[in-house]
Amino acid sequence: MSTYDVVILGAGPGGYNAAIRAGQLGLKAVCVEGRATLGGTCLNVGCMPSKALLHASELYDAAMGAEFATLGIEVKPTLNLAQMMKQKDESVAGLTKGIEFLFRKNKVHWIKGWGHIDGPGKVTVTDRHGEKTELLAKDIIIATGSEPTPLPGVDIDNKRILDSTGALSLTEVPKHLVVIGAGVIGLELGSVWRRLGAQVTVVEYLDRICPGVDGEAGKTLQRSLSKQGINFKLSSKVTSATTSETGVQLSVEPAAGGTAELIEADYVLVAIGRRPYTEGLGLENVGLATDKRGMLANKGHRTEAAGVWVIGDVTSGPMLAHKAEDEAMVCIEQIVGKAAEVNYDLIPNVIYTKPELASVGKTEEQLKTEGRAYKVGKFPFTANSRAKINHETEGFAKVLADERTDEILGVHLVGPSVSEMIGEYCVAMEFSASAEDIALTCHPHPTRSEALRQAAMNVEGMATQM
Ligand code: FAD
Ligand code: NAI
Repeated sequence: MSTYDVVILGAGPGGYNAAIRAGQLGLKAVCVEGRATLGGTCLNVGCMPSKALLHASELYDAAMGAEFATLGIEVKPTLNLAQMMKQKDESVAGLTKGIEFLFRKNKVHWIKGWGHIDGPGKVTVTDRHGEKTELLAKDIIIATGSEPTPLPGVDIDNKRILDSTGALSLTEVPKHLVVIGAGVIGLELGSVWRRLGAQVTVVEYLDRICPGVDGEAGKTLQRSLSKQGINFKLSSKVTSATTSETGVQLSVEPAAGGTAELIEADYVLVAIGRRPYTEGLGLENVGLATDKRGMLANKGHRTEAAGVWVIGDVTSGPMLAHKAEDEAMVCIEQIVGKAAEVNYDLIPNVIYTKPELASVGKTEEQLKTEGRAYKVGKFPFTANSRAKINHETEGFAKVLADERTDEILGVHLVGPSVSEMIGEYCVAMEFSASAEDIALTCHPHPTRSEALRQAAMNVEGMATQM
C-alpha cells in the first residue's frame, strides 16, 4: 500500500495537468490511467489526431483543387493514406511521450490500470494482468473524461458504423460517409474525409448546425462547407441502420415525423455528443451518484464527498481540453489552500474546419434572450488585404459590445486561422476591455488580425477599410 497527498484518476488534459501542477507545488502525486498511454481522449483519439488529419487533408485538398492552381502551382498529388495515418500516429506517440517526460520532471508517479474508489481516501488499481495496487491519499481527483453517446438503433461496431476513434483511423477513403450529428466532430471529421475524396452527407436533428454557436457564424460556416461539397440534411433523424459486409442502409425521417427515406453509405460516423465516463469507479463507496446524464456535480470542483474532487469532461461545463486544463490548475491550487477560480464566461470555442469558427463570450442569441442592449461591429475578410492577397476571403469578425459601457461581451470569428487569433479577445475580455480599447490598439499590417481591430472600430461605425 502506497500513501500519497493526491490520487488523480485519469490522465487526460484534466488529469495530467492536475498531476503536473501538484508535482510543481510539492505534493506527492500519483496519476492512474487505464489506457496504455498518457494524454487521455485529447492526445490519443481526440484533439490531436483530428488536427493532424485536418492539417494534412487541407493541404491535400489545396493541392488537388483550384487553390494551388490559382497561385500558379501546378501539381498532381496522389493520396498516400497509410503515410497520412502513420505521421498522425507518430505525432500522437511523440505527444504522449512528452507527458511521460513531464511526469518524470515533476516527480509524478504514473500507475497503469483502472482505478476504483474503495472508500474515502482509498483507491485500488487493477492492471491489465489483474494485478492490484492499493493507494491511500488525502485527496482524490476524478478526471475520467467522457465517451461517445450511443444512438439507439445505430450500433457502433467501428467497422462500418464508427465513432470518432474509428473515423480517425480508416484504412480507405469512404465512397459515401454519412455523419449523424452536425456538431464539432461531425464537421471536423466530415471535412477530413470530404477533402480526401469521400461524398459526405451530414444528418442533423435540429434545423441548424452546431447548436450553441452564434447563429450568423453557424450559417456562414454551413454555407462554406456546402460549397466544399458537404451535403446537409437538417431537421432529420436516423431511425435505424442495417449493416452488411460492404455498407450500411440508414432509414432517415424528418425530425417532426413523416415519410422515411433510405440512404446507402459505406461508412457511418455517429457524432451526436459525448457523455461523462464513470464506469466501475466505485462512486457509491463515497456516497456519490451521477445525475440522469451521467454527470458528477461539483461546487468549485469539490464533490459532496469530503476529499473527492472532479474536473474535466466528467463534470459540468463545455467538454473541451482547455476547460479541463483550467479546472485542473484551479483544483490543485484549492487543494493547497490557494485562492483560484475558473472564469467560465471566457472559455473559447473553436471548430477547426476551413474556414475555422472561433468564438468567446456571448452569442447574439444569448444577449437577446437576456434582454441586454448591445452594439455590433462587423468586418468581412473580403475587405482585409492579407486575406485578399492569399485568396482566403471567406468569413468575418464580429464584436458584440454593451450598448452603454462599450464592454466587449462576445466575439465571433469565421475565417482562416481564426483559432490563433481569438486569444487576443480572450485576454482583452479578461481585463474587461471595451471595443474602443481594441479599436485604439495598433495591429501589424498586413495581417488578418487587422480585421479583428476593424470589427472593434465598426462597433461605432468607424471601420476605415470598408
Ligand atoms: P479525457 O481526455 O477523456 O481523459 C480521461 C482519461 O481517464 C482517459 O484516458 C481514460 O482512459 C481515463 N480513465 C477513465 N476512467 C478511469 C479509471 N477508472 N481509472 C483510470 N483511468 C481512467 N477539445 C478541445 O478543446 N479542442 C479540440 O480540438 C478537441 N477535439 C476533439 C476531437 C475529438 C475527435 C474528440 C473525441 C474530442 C475532442 N475534444 C477537443 C474534446 C477533448 O478531447 C476533451 O474535452 C478532453 O480530452 C477532456 O479531458 P479530460 O481530462 O476531462 O478527459
Ligand atoms: P456536439 O454536441 O458538438 O454535436 C452533436 C450534434 O448532434 C448536435 O448538433 C445535435 O443536435 C446533434 N444530434 C444529437 N442527437 C442527434 C440525432 N439523434 N440525430 C441527429 N443529430 C443529432 O457533439 P460531437 O460533435 O459529438 O462532439 C462532442 C464534444 O466533443 C463536443 O461537444 C466538444 O465538446 C468536443 N469536441 C471539441 C472539438 C473542438 O473543440 N474543436 C472537436 C471535437 C469534439
